[in-house]
Amino acid sequence: MSTYAVPPRVSEGTSSPVSSMEGWRAAWMAARNDPDGFWLPETRERIAWDQPPTVGLAGDFHDIADERISWFADGQLNVTRSCLDRHLETRGDKVAILWEGDEPGDVRRITYRELHAEVCRAASALRELGVQKGERVIIYMGMVPEAAIAMLACARLGAVHSVVFGGFSAEALKDRIRDCAAEVVITQDEGMRGGKTIPLKATCDEAVIGERSVRKVLVYRRTGVHVAWDAERDVWWHDVVPTQSADLDAVSCGAEDPLFVLYTSGSTGRPKGLVHSCGGYITWASYTHEIVFDLREDDVYACVADVGWITGHTYIVYGPLANGATTLMFESTPLYPDSGRYWDVVQRHGVTIFYTAPTAIRALAACGDEHVTRYDRSSLRVLGTVGEPINPDAWVWYFDVVGEKRCTVVDTWWQTETGGICITPIAPATPTKPGSASLPNPAIVPVLLDDQSRVIVGPGEGRLCLAQPWPGIARTVWGDHARYVSTYFSTFPGYYFTGDGCRRDADGYHWITGRVDDVLNVSGHRMGTAEFEAVLMSIDAIGEAGVVGYPHDLKGQGVYAYVVLQSDAGEVTDQELEAIIRAACRTQIGAHARVDLVQVVPGLPKTRSGKVMRRILRKVAEGPPDQLGDVSTLADPSVVEAIVAGAKR
Ligand code: WT7
Repeated sequence: MSTYAVPPRVSEGTSSPVSSMEGWRAAWMAARNDPDGFWLPETRERIAWDQPPTVGLAGDFHDIADERISWFADGQLNVTRSCLDRHLETRGDKVAILWEGDEPGDVRRITYRELHAEVCRAASALRELGVQKGERVIIYMGMVPEAAIAMLACARLGAVHSVVFGGFSAEALKDRIRDCAAEVVITQDEGMRGGKTIPLKATCDEAVIGERSVRKVLVYRRTGVHVAWDAERDVWWHDVVPTQSADLDAVSCGAEDPLFVLYTSGSTGRPKGLVHSCGGYITWASYTHEIVFDLREDDVYACVADVGWITGHTYIVYGPLANGATTLMFESTPLYPDSGRYWDVVQRHGVTIFYTAPTAIRALAACGDEHVTRYDRSSLRVLGTVGEPINPDAWVWYFDVVGEKRCTVVDTWWQTETGGICITPIAPATPTKPGSASLPNPAIVPVLLDDQSRVIVGPGEGRLCLAQPWPGIARTVWGDHARYVSTYFSTFPGYYFTGDGCRRDADGYHWITGRVDDVLNVSGHRMGTAEFEAVLMSIDAIGEAGVVGYPHDLKGQGVYAYVVLQSDAGEVTDQELEAIIRAACRTQIGAHARVDLVQVVPGLPKTRSGKVMRRILRKVAEGPPDQLGDVSTLADPSVVEAIVAGAKR
């Protein structure tokens, strides 16, 4: 076993350098004024580099079309050495992954020693299947430890993983396989969630038909159900992984080599594959995970997200493992077998840090306090939330009822693109305000811009941009750097545009107001209105469609579809139409993509030049509009009257 000059980091007690407001302020100023001076020592100390970097940041947001952002470019590393090997000496017998299965009490505990061995075996098996450095592997699995093992096994080989959330349909999976030309897909026979099975292998079979890039499908057995089998292509995990050697040297990678691709929705077109790098990403994941949650050596840390989203990547797998923490993986739902499940998990495992989404908090608050209070939550110290704005009522319930007014609530704002948490309180130092993501982490320089691209000074509300590169920013869009540049850097030249609106108060605290572009956030799931519109347009009876979000008490946003029927569509009832639309969204996107309200309209409101006035669609969907604003450019005002008259809310 190799030893490292670098001691693995987890602060003992509250020794974190940013555990006070003065500490935070000093770190923030240092990282802003001298990024290299701040991050080079930080990463050298924090990360197990094979070849420590001597250069920090290169590139900026002005020249991003010509020169990509890079951090630590001359460094060499394999992130799994930070996540596994270096912990063996001091934490070999510490639980790395604590798995709570779908059925309460179905538990697996995997120590760092076991995880290291299992990742080496899986990596060897992938190598036998032909996976090489730089090749893409799609991971289409549920929340089993093998999903994390598969990610780390890819990373061990320098292969690029792309996890696709297990709720996505065969068509959505196929798009992603094709976009990154994946060589191998890793899946499981079935997923388990909330007492139901999810046919992952069957969906995967459908997705890989005709995909010539896919050589092998590696299948983990979770439920044991009979699955269709292609003997040429399919390989059981239990046939090829356990027999491998428990030690496999990690492939040394350049700091800027891609670690993974993760697809996410935008305002236009198909989902984009955001590319995260090895060195900058792991530095940012480790740093933010430690400081934001005030991580301590004996913490039992539970982020109940899914590895199919960026939260699972950074705060279930890479951040916690880089920090030598015990990270819980949760296969079930907050409502199975009843709405006390989270707190049952907290009590049985002694969870100290708990990280979930506002949509779950709102759903649980509606079920009544007794489902919470019947469990012992005295182990809890920090409560995190992520994914959408949290309304103050839900925040206060989380703080009062779940946390017994003892725990710090950290409302963490970030995105798939940012790799890790950007705006957040730091536990327990930052004074919190219910509903505010509060202050930026070191390296994050938020700027609010108005419609004329003017910087707003002091309190105000505008478009949230970030002015300086941080180590964890996604470097490009897979196969389409021009799209990366136009999506994030063309609206406000010189700035990274987040797509969110934000208000800053007199104390400098940030209040995220939600997306200002055509991206929806439904129960924390990010989806593009354009993706829904493409599905609707694929339906024969529909001639035109416009999709917008509207405020929804539990889900944050609901999905509202305006459709214009084809003149030859024939008789179709509202119920039939809704059923057709829901089925089409399920097959083309996934079960989480549900249209809530459908309104048949005679036409979409358009300007005389033919542009759909989405503003009007949004206004009507928000509820009875008192006024619609300027409608003088409308081609046909009668369309708007019909839309208002037939509104579903
Ligand atoms: C969008 C990013 C970050 C991991 C999960 C979502 C919204 C995220 C917050 C928050 C208000 C938030 C934003 C952002 N969002 N966290 N704490 N407060 N809004 O990642 O799928 O890339 O979505 O989620 O609108 O742009 P994502």
